[in-house]
Amino acid sequence: MARNLNNYTFKNGITLRNPFVLAPMTTYSSNVDLTLSEQEEAYYRARAKSFGMIITAATAINKHAQAFENQITIRDDRYLDSMKRLASAINDEGSVSICQLHHGGRMSKPNLFKNQRIVAPSAVKAERDFAVTPEKLKISEIYDIIDDFKDATKRALEAGFDGVELHGANTYLIQQFFSPHSNRRDDEFGGSVEKRMRFIRLLVDAVLEVKDKTDRPFIVGYRFSPEEIENPGITLNDTLQLVDYLSETNLDYLHISIGHYDKASLRDKTDSTPVVTKIQSVLQNKIPLIGVGGIHSLEDVELANRLGYDLYALGMGALADPDIPNKLINEEPLKNTIDEASVLPDQLKERLKHWGDGLEKRGYKIKQK
Ligand SMILES: Cc1cc2nc3c(=O)[nH]c(=O)nc-3n(C[C@H](O)[C@H](O)[C@H](O)COP(=O)(O)O)c2cc1C
Repeated sequence: MARNLNNYTFKNGITLRNPFVLAPMTTYSSNVDLTLSEQEEAYYRARAKSFGMIITAATAINKHAQAFENQITIRDDRYLDSMKRLASAINDEGSVSICQLHHGGRMSKPNLFKNQRIVAPSAVKAERDFAVTPEKLKISEIYDIIDDFKDATKRALEAGFDGVELHGANTYLIQQFFSPHSNRRDDEFGGSVEKRMRFIRLLVDAVLEVKDKTDRPFIVGYRFSPEEIENPGITLNDTLQLVDYLSETNLDYLHISIGHYDKASLRDKTDSTPVVTKIQSVLQNKIPLIGVGGIHSLEDVELANRLGYDLYALGMGALADPDIPNKLINEEPLKNTIDEASVLPDQLKERLKHWGDGLEKRGYKIKQK
């Protein structure tokens, strides 16, 4: 195998023991007060023994950022101890810890708590059954949210994380600013691609400012979804402009969120070029790129590497088997049954049970008691 699977070093000197990354996965399992539960801690600890880097579940950056039940939060200093436990669970086992910073925007589930405000760039409902029409953010509130991301980054640093990832993917708030579906504003935050990018520029600048002021190496990554299926929606051309901008920043990595690592355009079925090839035509390896989606074998890793990914994130495979990086490296058979050895929080297991066929179609099953 051509690819070095032993380690990976970022340009700031932080070294991963292998190029496998735990994909960020929401566990729906925090304590009622939104602090890290013991089951979540065990979930991370089990995976930190083998993964080079762990990206946490989407972590809410302020009260109204919360999108799901029992979602961990980093929204104020009361949660610092909880976040310290999370960073330590990962770091103590020799993995690199990245906290995924998140705001749900119009994709937040309603009625999560009293006086919940569901906010977005514009008052346009997401095309989802559960969604409600969000409140349009005032300009001053947009700046407040950027400050909240910045404060969350400072808190992640204080808690001992090795970095943060801005969750600009999967239709949540950051993506909602970039999307012509959710962003219909006619001020400086909406309209042309350039204006829809303004929120991202300000956010990235704010978070990188925190990194620049630290006296230890700190990773800042950015996750994005290359396209949207809605009309209007984000096109690959829009994303190439975003990548062009991101590639000139001091970010430490970009992370595509895509169903399969070698997938072609969702919107243009006549174009069979893998999305990553288009991304790399602009990115030109200026910043490391994390791939994800159906990476299950060394052949996948090899192909993903040839397509231009530097690091490989594993989702479902890592839910079934905390030790999947070592199994891949040692060419041992992979585990596809979710059972006690999977060390999953109960609520996450319950959610997965409701996937039914969806789970089987992806080649996994849950052991019934
Ligand atoms: C249960 C579950 C929860 C997820 N939660 C998040 C999340 O919090 N943040 C995020 O960026 N992606 C989330 N994802 C998407 C994964 O990070 C990943 O992109 C996806 O599972 C594809 O990788 P895979 O084919 O290896 O599973 C989630 C996926 C699953 C299965």
